[in-house]
Amino acid sequence: MTHKVALNFEDGVTRFIDANAGETIADAAYRQGINLPMDCRDGACGACKCFAESGRYDLGEEYIEDALSEAEAEQGYVLTCQMRAESDCVIRVPAASDVCKTQQASYQAAISNVRQLSESTIALSIKSASLNQLAFLPGQYVNLQVPGSDQTRAYSFSSLQKDGEVGFLIRNVPGGLMSSFLTSLAKVGDSVSLAGPLGAFYLREIKRPLLLLAGGTGLAPFTAMLEKIAEQGSEHPLHLIYGVTHDHDLVEMDKLEAFAARIPNFSYSACVASPDSAYPQKGYVTQYIEPKHLNGGEVDVYLCGPPPMVEAVSQYIRAQGIQPANFYYEKFAASA
Ligand SMILES: Cc1cc2nc3c(=O)[nH]c(=O)nc-3n(C[C@H](O)[C@H](O)[C@H](O)COP(=O)(O)OP(=O)(O)OC[C@H]3O[C@@H](n4cnc5c(N)ncnc54)[C@H](O)[C@@H]3O)c2cc1C
Ligand code: FES
Repeated sequence: MTHKVALNFEDGVTRFIDANAGETIADAAYRQGINLPMDCRDGACGACKCFAESGRYDLGEEYIEDALSEAEAEQGYVLTCQMRAESDCVIRVPAASDVCKTQQASYQAAISNVRQLSESTIALSIKSASLNQLAFLPGQYVNLQVPGSDQTRAYSFSSLQKDGEVGFLIRNVPGGLMSSFLTSLAKVGDSVSLAGPLGAFYLREIKRPLLLLAGGTGLAPFTAMLEKIAEQGSEHPLHLIYGVTHDHDLVEMDKLEAFAARIPNFSYSACVASPDSAYPQKGYVTQYIEPKHLNGGEVDVYLCGPPPMVEAVSQYIRAQGIQPANFYYEKFAASA
């Protein structure tokens, strides 16, 4: 039996390896061309210490307290020269990918669907046989090359990978390089290259209620996460607040409705900031965060959107005097 182990490197690169039953993570990585930081290989030096974000595993019995203390083991630290996976795992490696002799993977695919959901938002899907090999954690992103240029733009997956196809939700930035390509030139069958997956904004094991806060196309990583949650279920409540600027920015509401029907513990609300909006709920996402959503701090908050929105929401949560158990965010910063 093999397990999929995601290795998240310090520079944001993620590589997935297969770990066989009884095989140490260090050996599995080495077999697949990745040299994790390592020295004694005996559980004595601690040079291979990493952090296990999720999954079940055996820590091994051969290591000494100097290499990994009991307190560290309880927090989730592991020695990869000793650890054996007992389920799929996510491991944070405190080194850059190139130091470990690896790098982000590149793929070639073709546009399978491109359509404007509204004047401000584009849905893009790409597909290829090679994307069947593309594993990522829901919430992560890739760098897509803008066809006909040497420029790349970062986009979060808005779906899981299914039959070699993945989706994206993209804001139409007037005059933007990728935006112009997608709105005026792109057609089904066009070739695109991408590199990744990347990023530390991904769904962790759900151990407490989740509050998901999306601004504009910052909804994309959440629809990927919700697909995963719909598959695996959640015993904890999940609430999404989706805020946009104008009525036409409000897209994928049917998708959210379908998630609410599929995921018993999931609820959501949306709001539009523009005073001209005809949408019943006006204002910013912060106006719709209720004390029960913050659950006295026993909550994992995920926040994604344009940088000013991420800043404003972070400040608002700090001002409530509540420290969420975990606070993850992604800023959709412009590349230029
Ligand atoms: C980690 C990460 C993930 C991302 N994921 C997504 C995603 O899933 N969906 C998505 O829509 N975007 C996402 N972005 C933003 C995306 O990478 C591009 O920056 C955006 O799509 C603009 O690309 P463009 O080529 O159309 O415009 P560009 O040619 O890059 O920009 C044209 C002009 O518009 C300005 N500009 C660019 N973006 C904005 C903006 N958002 N608001 C105001 N002005 C802007 C630029 O400064 C420049 O002057 C992500 C960014 C990061 C860093
Ligand atoms: S390499 Fe020394 S403890 Fe693992």
